[in-house]
Amino acid sequence: MSCLSFPPSVFVIGRDYEILLFAEQNGIFWLEIEGERYYPDNAGTLASELPYAKVRLPQTVLNGAKNYRVCYRKTIERKAYFSKIGEVETEEYAFRPLTKTRDIHLYHIADVHYAFAVGKKTATFFGDDLDLLVVNGDIGEVETEQNYKEVARFVGEITGGSLPVLFVRGNHDTRGHLAEKFTDYFPAEGKNTYFTFEVGPLCGVVLDCGEDKPDNHREYGGGYGGAPVYNGTNAFEPYRRRETAWLANVRLPQDKIPLAVCHICPVQTTRHPGDPFDIERDVYTAWNAELERLGIRLMLCGHVHLAYLLMPGDPASLLPHNYPVVVGSATFKGQTDLVGAAITINPEGATVLFTDAAHNVKERFELTF
Ligand SMILES: [Fe+2]
Repeated sequence: MSCLSFPPSVFVIGRDYEILLFAEQNGIFWLEIEGERYYPDNAGTLASELPYAKVRLPQTVLNGAKNYRVCYRKTIERKAYFSKIGEVETEEYAFRPLTKTRDIHLYHIADVHYAFAVGKKTATFFGDDLDLLVVNGDIGEVETEQNYKEVARFVGEITGGSLPVLFVRGNHDTRGHLAEKFTDYFPAEGKNTYFTFEVGPLCGVVLDCGEDKPDNHREYGGGYGGAPVYNGTNAFEPYRRRETAWLANVRLPQDKIPLAVCHICPVQTTRHPGDPFDIERDVYTAWNAELERLGIRLMLCGHVHLAYLLMPGDPASLLPHNYPVVVGSATFKGQTDLVGAAITINPEGATVLFTDAAHNVKERFELTF
């Protein structure tokens, strides 16, 4: 029996991986790769009172080794002296880095909203030919530790711990009793859930709009009587502005294909202009200008529970943009089916298929970069 509850998630961030591990009981974790140990970054004290850990390491280390060993010791009693810690248990995982330069198979899934079984069927469209999984927000909500564990299980069971994953926060991942702990589990630069990434011949930026409504939004319908929805628990307006300043300083490598990934589409936060989700046009105008500067070839979004392409010049965009946007997650009543985007990327363009849980191709598009 494995010492882990399910396979790890290997998240891409910067030029590193962050590997998320879960066990059934509190313990200490580390990784071993080619004889070197990699520990969770915690100022030298290994956390022993948690059943999970996140370990960051350079991509080059794992890409070269192509396998890693997870090591775990169950906590019996942590004390100032002579702590009681269980024997070392280990589990080995193979890893297949993204080294292809053509026909890169990326699967984009978002808005699973707890429909994990359907989501897993949808996300396995490429089978063993998947190169990069993009999990673009709203997979669950985050009321409990168990919620985080379920999302980690979802990612780990699709990839088997053997493939890179781009994991992006959605607005529902900012809601709930334990929303504040998101960065303990999922990729972040410090506490920032926006970051650059490089993976194989791809690079880009992960952006995070936070919530889809203003921080002080009040709900007038449904008998809420104008009650403040977030009631002072969100400060996304300053967060987005900090993100704008960060984005202005981003430089991406010139020899890779630049992508942008964001749960909410900044250039079309809503399909109904003027509704409560039509926010921050000034901020998103600035974001768009930076994305144009970076030469983004393709943006990947979810959130509106629909699957469509938003091309440059489309009058449905709230802000003009010069790159195509794949809005790639359609859901259906009762989450009985889920459509994601199976994208095959080449330096000169991409093929985008919208596919369902039965792996039927619903629509097909060819994009030229
Ligand atoms: Fe959403």
